[in-house]
Amino acid sequence: MNYYVAPMEGLTDRVWRQAHQKWFGWAGGPARYYAPFLSPPENRVLIKKKMAELAPEANPGVPVIPQLLARDGELAAWMIGELRKLGYTEVNLNFGCPAGTVTAKGKGSGMLRDPAKLDAFLEAVFSHAEGPISVKTRLGVEKPEEFAAILTIYNRYPISELTIHPRVMRQLYRGQADREAFAAALPQCKPPVCYNGDITTTGQLHALEAEFPTLSGIMIGRGIIADPALFRKALGGPAATKAELRGYLDDLYHGYTELFGSAGCAISRMKGHWFYLIHCFADSEKLEKQLKKLREPWEYETVVNQIFTLPLI
Ligand SMILES: Cc1cc2nc3c(=O)[nH]c(=O)nc-3n(C[C@H](O)[C@H](O)[C@H](O)COP(=O)(O)O)c2cc1C
Repeated sequence: MNYYVAPMEGLTDRVWRQAHQKWFGWAGGPARYYAPFLSPPENRVLIKKKMAELAPEANPGVPVIPQLLARDGELAAWMIGELRKLGYTEVNLNFGCPAGTVTAKGKGSGMLRDPAKLDAFLEAVFSHAEGPISVKTRLGVEKPEEFAAILTIYNRYPISELTIHPRVMRQLYRGQADREAFAAALPQCKPPVCYNGDITTTGQLHALEAEFPTLSGIMIGRGIIADPALFRKALGGPAATKAELRGYLDDLYHGYTELFGSAGCAISRMKGHWFYLIHCFADSEKLEKQLKKLREPWEYETVVNQIFTLPLI
């Protein structure tokens, strides 16, 4: 079973991928990092700042899989060609993003609204681009029953791996991932299937592996930000120590400060990580509130020092 890190805009960027590998990469896990989505530019001129995220020299080590958010199949195929020139092999297509700003443009899970358009998109991509192309999808827009028609389309193309996040677009991240709908769809899927959604403990991860032994992979997003040692533990390794968490968080903070050229911007990115990670520490409620409000680097550093006096859960 392969373990993958999910793409998460604002969290699993290149600074994070390097820090995570350095501190928690262990004995073969994770197998891949999926990078947050990029939209192919309509004028076909690559945006330097965005492409810096995928510069091969900034992404050494465990393979990184770029992801595209697009609705024009030929444009997506062109961008896949550009990514191949950088040395990337697999490219992932995003049919999962539920954000209103994305779906209003018919992108992300907005692509699932009209199966005929989805089919035309995939036809254009697969007829113009070569090499492994994987897909990350939700079950539909309104209800999971829509997935049967969507899957009929996916099954027509040589998708290298189909990652299913079993929620519908309207749900955003509310409620729970629909394991029943996932289990019902799994035998009908032609491509290898990766499961994604709501796994936060090694117990849940192993239970999922036992329940669905035919999966090619399991992808975890929020759970790995909340516990960066999750895959290491699943592979029989130790839990994160305070010293490791400190080193990891310091690398992130300094990496973001350098990347953004400002500690203030780094703090706002760090708050995104702390939103999930703070729950590693016992009795952290008071400091969590302070962390949310603070703005200045000295305040951030003081509160983080205080958090590190708390015991790990
Ligand atoms: C802040 C945030 C950003 C995300 N960005 C992306 C993205 O760029 N591409 C994508 O396919 N999914 C994105 N997702 C969805 C995750 O990849 C994943 O499907 C979702 O969080 C469910 O998995 P989990 O329960 O393991 O977190 C994002 C999710 C969050 C919370």
